[in-house]
Amino acid sequence: MAQSLRVLSGKQKRSLLPVTSFLLVGLILSFCGYSYLITQNQNPKSKLAGASKAVGQLHSQQQLKRLPRTVYPQPDVLKPSRQDVLLVTPWLAPIVWEGTFNTDLLNEQFRLQNATIGLTVFALRKYTLFLRVFLDTAERYFMVGHRVNYYIFTDQPDHVPHVLLREGRQMVILKAQSHARWQDISMRRMEVISNFSQQRFLGEVDYLVCSDVDVKFSDHVGVEILSSLFGTLHPGYLKFRRDNFAYERRPQSQAYIPEDEGDFYYTGALFGGSVLEVYRLTKACHQAMMIDQANGIEAKWHDESHLNKYLLHHKPTKILSPEYRWDKEHL
Ligand SMILES: *[C@@H]1O[C@H](CO)[C@@H](O)[C@H](O)[C@H]1NC(C)=O
Ligand SMILES: *[C@@H]1O[C@H](CO)[C@@H](O)[C@H](O)[C@H]1NC(C)=O
Repeated sequence: MAQSLRVLSGKQKRSLLPVTSFLLVGLILSFCGYSYLITQNQNPKSKLAGASKAVGQLHSQQQLKRLPRTVYPQPDVLKPSRQDVLLVTPWLAPIVWEGTFNTDLLNEQFRLQNATIGLTVFALRKYTLFLRVFLDTAERYFMVGHRVNYYIFTDQPDHVPHVLLREGRQMVILKAQSHARWQDISMRRMEVISNFSQQRFLGEVDYLVCSDVDVKFSDHVGVEILSSLFGTLHPGYLKFRRDNFAYERRPQSQAYIPEDEGDFYYTGALFGGSVLEVYRLTKACHQAMMIDQANGIEAKWHDESHLNKYLLHHKPTKILSPEYRWDKEHL
């Protein structure tokens, strides 16, 4: 400890001169830049006025939306909340594990946003059978205390069970077309979500959570999962090296990922984000699948392969641990 401190201070001393000169150069440059702007810009006043207005708005919003006094255990800088798992990605996105967050604090924060959360789910053909448990358990555990719209896509609206919803929650039943192959049912979800994001969701909700229907919520799933773009770690691949992930490996496919690339293997069963980001993701995946179809190729794990490709090049801002997607097989 002492040794590393000494090394640090030694470095600091040595670099003092360069830092000072950088500062000076910076000052001179910014002065020149400023004069340049003044002389170049015919109307600098309007731009400056715009900027200060934006800052003013930001300022007043922050003042309006102040967290109330909340008492909670102090976070300890020298004591990580979990030692056994990775808590943050190399691009600094948090990985959400139980025991790393305070639900009450997060709920307070999100209530300031007054956000509405959309939960999309597809129940086609015999999958309507799963809706009862899905909805019952979602009412018990999903985003409790927040406004939720369930968007249920189905080819059999009459088979959607009646479920008593809590206040602030509603169910929207949307007609969707079924397909002969389950692969097509799975893949077409991307197209449907992207269409509806543009036409409807953007005006109705702030976040979208896209889930498989054959799941059961067995513990709270709350606002800790929300972020502009989130994916979920597939429980089956935690110990795998990237070259053994189930990525699409044929370069002819749009979902192709070379063996020396890839961060994690994400499940297609749970992802989401802001409506705009989900729109971008689903549209990109749908387009990639259409190109594959035209080229006579289908990715190994269908929409999940394309999701993995998208999330490799558009890094998620939050990642859900497999705690959000355990099943009996992986417990
Ligand atoms: C919160 O959002 C709802 C629905 O969008 C709206 O009716 C309500 O007025 C909003 N409340 C506040 C305090 O902004
Ligand atoms: C999605 O929108 C496109 C363009 O409007 C349309 O051609 C397509 O049929 C729609 N697909 C679905 C599944 O609604």
